[in-house]
Order: sequence, then structure tokens, then C-alpha cells
Amino acid sequence: MTAQEIIQQIEEAGREFARAIGDLRDEQAIREEKARVLGKKGSLAGAMKGLGALPAPDRPRVGEALNRVKGSIEAEVERRLGAIAEEALEVDLARRVDVTLPSRPRRRGHLHLLTQLLREIEEIFREIGFQVATGPQVETDFHNFEALNMPPDHPARDMQDTFFIEGGQGQLVLRTHTSPVQIRTMLAGPPPVRIIAPGVVYRRDDDPTHSPMFTQVECLCVDHGVSFADLKGTLLHFVHRFFGPDIGIRLRPSFFPFTEPSAEMDILCLFCKGRGCRICKSTGYLEVGGAGMVDPAVFAACGYDRYDVTGFAFGFGVERMGMLRHGVDDIKLWYEGDARWLEQF
Ligand code: DAH
Repeated sequence: MTAQEIIQQIEEAGREFARAIGDLRDEQAIREEKARVLGKKGSLAGAMKGLGALPAPDRPRVGEALNRVKGSIEAEVERRLGAIAEEALEVDLARRVDVTLPSRPRRRGHLHLLTQLLREIEEIFREIGFQVATGPQVETDFHNFEALNMPPDHPARDMQDTFFIEGGQGQLVLRTHTSPVQIRTMLAGPPPVRIIAPGVVYRRDDDPTHSPMFTQVECLCVDHGVSFADLKGTLLHFVHRFFGPDIGIRLRPSFFPFTEPSAEMDILCLFCKGRGCRICKSTGYLEVGGAGMVDPAVFAACGYDRYDVTGFAFGFGVERMGMLRHGVDDIKLWYEGDARWLEQF
């Protein structure tokens, strides 16, 4: 090919670009047209190849044509893309924002019912001079059973059947109740003691009203001259604050190895106020926990002088309290994390 032919080819490529680009307004399409002419396999690349074969004196003319066409194509592409960007900006700026529209509400979480109840219960007892104490969930056989007057093979252990693990200092268990915190507190210091111990406990139980893991609150009060009347007064105060002033309590003689005498604590049925209904199985009362006067054997295990001090203790299940208050009939709901349930409280 002669120089003139190559120059014609170059100029034809330039005209072809001008035709193709026409009035394209789409950025992607404009870039594609540019690549079709200037790209590695584009029409100008063919012309470039011919350049090498030309006699040296002809080359500058062809080179000049090549640069001219290439330059004008690039300038046109720049101009088009600039115009498109400007138009888009104008559209953006012209878009009206209605600042008076209500905002999209943000969903706020809240404390789980269990946490709310625990805080409420702690507050009720703090007001009357109790401190909050805690203990480990993996507990020794000694604290969970033995010091609570349940020696190995004692039949009372059957009520709290659980798994045992061989540990460094004898057997370990997932605590079956919060009562071991009584032991830990008394071993840690002399009387007087006024504590409540909220916490998770584990049992081999699983049905709509029993979960293998649930929450208890323990109470222990030890001092000079603490009597059964103090126990009853404290329980009544708590029940009035938690369930309302019209809910009375009933203490039924019972047995726990760590208290003597022991009582089962019932509250007046919240649903029928004692008249008898399906929930209280026509008894007029609902069982909520155990209580009693600290057994001298427990004091002995903790190095307290049974002739110097007396004490009362009680324990109850927190979920059960909440289920009674709110009429919840399945304990699993507490742990499932279903927002439809959680949002109700
Ligand atoms: N620890 C007992 C249980 O989980 C409940 C209990 C009964 C606690 C009597 C006490 C008590 O402090 O005095 O079944």
C-alpha cells in the first residue's frame, strides 16, 4: 500500500467513527465505539502495521495523519463523556428531597424478660438490705450436696439427679440449685449474712414446665435471733412487691436436707384468687419454691456456731415466677429467642 492509500484508510476510520458515534448518549456504547477504532484490534491498528513497510521519507506524513485522527477521536470521546456526567449531576441536583417526610423507624431491642425479672427481684431484696452473691455453675459435690447435708447415697439426691464429672478435688457437677452459694458465702466470712444469689442451674428434666437449664434465686439470712417469722415476713414482702398486695402466701410443711423445719412455699393463685381453677388444679394455690430454717448440720459444715446464730433460706425458680405473672405456659419460650414472644415483654 502506498502512503496515500494508508492515509485514506486512516481518514476513513475517522469518518466511520464519527458516523458510528452519531448521537450516542450511553457511556458504555461510546467507549465500545472508541475501542473499535483505537483498540489493539481496531481499524487504526491495521494502518499502523502498513507504516513500517513504507519508505522512510513517506512515514512522517502518514504519522501526522494518524495522530490527527487519533487526537480528534479522543477529544470527541472526552467531550461526550463530560457532557453525560454533567447531565447526570444536574439530574441529581434537581431531585427534590422532602425533609418533612417521617423517618424510617429504627427497631430497638430491649432486655430479655428474664433479665428484667432478675433486676426487679434483686432490687426488691436490695431495698431490704440483701446483697447479691454469685457462685460457679460447675460446682463441687461438696458445695452442691455434701455441705448442704446431702451425704453420698442420701435419697434426697434423687430429686436432683445429675451428671458427675471426675474433677481435681473430687466430683464436679453442673450445679442443680443455687443453694451452694449459701455454703460459699458462709465459708467466705462470719455472720451476719444477708444475700440473694440469682443464677442458672441444671437438672435432668425436660417437659413444658421443666427445662434442663433454668434460673433460680436463692436467699440466705443468718444473724442472731433470726426466726421463722422473719422468713415468713420476708417472703410475704417479696410476694406483695412482685405479684401485688392481694396475693398471700401459704407455707406447707415439707422436707429439704438443708433446712429444719422446711416448707414448701405457695402463693395464692393469681388466676382465680383462691377460688380454684384449672391452673391451680382447684387448690387455690400455686407452688413457687422451697424455704426453711438453716439446718444446724449446714452451719457445722461452714464453721458457724449453731448456738450463736440462726438463719432462714429459700429458693425459687425465676422463669416459673414470670410464667405465673404473665400466663406463659411453655418454659422453652424463654430460651428460643423468638422475637414475636420477646417483644411482648
Ligand atoms: N434448693 C432447692 C431446690 O432447688 C430449693 C430450696 C429449698 C432452697 C429450701 C432453699 C431452701 O434455700 O431453704 O429444690
